[in-house]
Amino acid sequence: MSGIELDLAAEFPLREGLLYLNHAAVGVWPKRTAEAVKAFADENLHQGAQDYPRWMQMEQSLRRRLAGLVGAPSAADIALLKNTSEGLSLIASGIDWHVGDNIVISNREFPSNRMVWESLAVRGVELRQADISGDDPEGALIACMNAQTRLLSVSSVQFADGLRLDLNQLGAACRQHEVLLCVDAIQSLGALSFDAVSCKADFVVADGHKWMLGPEGVAVFYSRPAAREQLKLSQFGWHMVEHYGDFDRQEWQPAKSARRFEPGSPNMLGICALDASLSLFGEVGMGAVEEGVLQGAYWLTRSVLEDERLELLSPAQPERMSGIVSLRRHDLDAAGHAALYRYLMESGVICALRGGGIRFSPHFYTPMNQLEEALDRVVCFHPAA
Ligand SMILES: Cc1ncc(COP(=O)(O)O)c(C=O)c1O
Repeated sequence: MSGIELDLAAEFPLREGLLYLNHAAVGVWPKRTAEAVKAFADENLHQGAQDYPRWMQMEQSLRRRLAGLVGAPSAADIALLKNTSEGLSLIASGIDWHVGDNIVISNREFPSNRMVWESLAVRGVELRQADISGDDPEGALIACMNAQTRLLSVSSVQFADGLRLDLNQLGAACRQHEVLLCVDAIQSLGALSFDAVSCKADFVVADGHKWMLGPEGVAVFYSRPAAREQLKLSQFGWHMVEHYGDFDRQEWQPAKSARRFEPGSPNMLGICALDASLSLFGEVGMGAVEEGVLQGAYWLTRSVLEDERLELLSPAQPERMSGIVSLRRHDLDAAGHAALYRYLMESGVICALRGGGIRFSPHFYTPMNQLEEALDRVVCFHPAA
């Protein structure tokens, strides 16, 4: 074992026999995160918020780390929200829609990135869904846009099969046609490199509890300054004002920074945890993390393709791959896959049932022999007669 593997084994002391292949659902915490949360609890127990200035530094540290992961020019472009769905909702309620406007999404989005746009039908806004199951998903999305399109909202990586989109191509088309680009990056951030500037994203949203290995309930919301200005605010409070901390002041303006989307007290416990989790990515480096994630995905993909009992549901072209690999057994129907899923979970292979198959989502630290073991269990499973 190399030094870094030794360190990673200490960072992820998962229970013996547990194969944790479910980071596309909810990730595990590294040891340092558990320790940071325990220390924060003790601090609160013994001295409350006496050291609040240090907590604020922790909050700033998290904004900087998230800005780095997203590729934001500044930490001021980062708001800390509750979850991805909240970020998407802020965008939907913030844009000044006109009757006849439309929004383009793909036909494979997670419900949060569809429902929120459907909710605008009462305001006369049309939702168009591009079929991205063909060879040219970006072309299908771009072809779905017309002169009335105001926003394109896509997941950088599809939740069920892991299809990765070429965001640079989408961003260039959006900018050319003056369409806002919103990216749900929850299946990318912490797994794959991301660059909000080069893909010309106007908004990027992602919760920290999947690939970023943080807790549920702290999300990153990136907004490009010019796009940020276009969002009408719908939540108000002391924390979102430009002159933050001046409680005697009667007049106020929203902060120029993305803090304008944070009306009240932050989720400091969640911030403490996510900041600790992201410190690991800083040490390992996103390049090495991405390499580890894709190595696992390549191995699983190749193994599924080579096994005639299995069907690959995820893309096999390297540029389309992500941390998610979904597969089916040819001989099992939907009920059989539900039984296979239950068997895997009961035997300690933590995974998901998505898109009609078994979804594996190992992270960079997952040992290769765990992938072999998981696949073995898939092929060896016998449905009850
Ligand atoms: C692509 C995608 N978007 C959004 C969500 C939901 O995110 P949140 O719970 O942070 O709103 C998920 C959760 O699985 C997801 O896979």
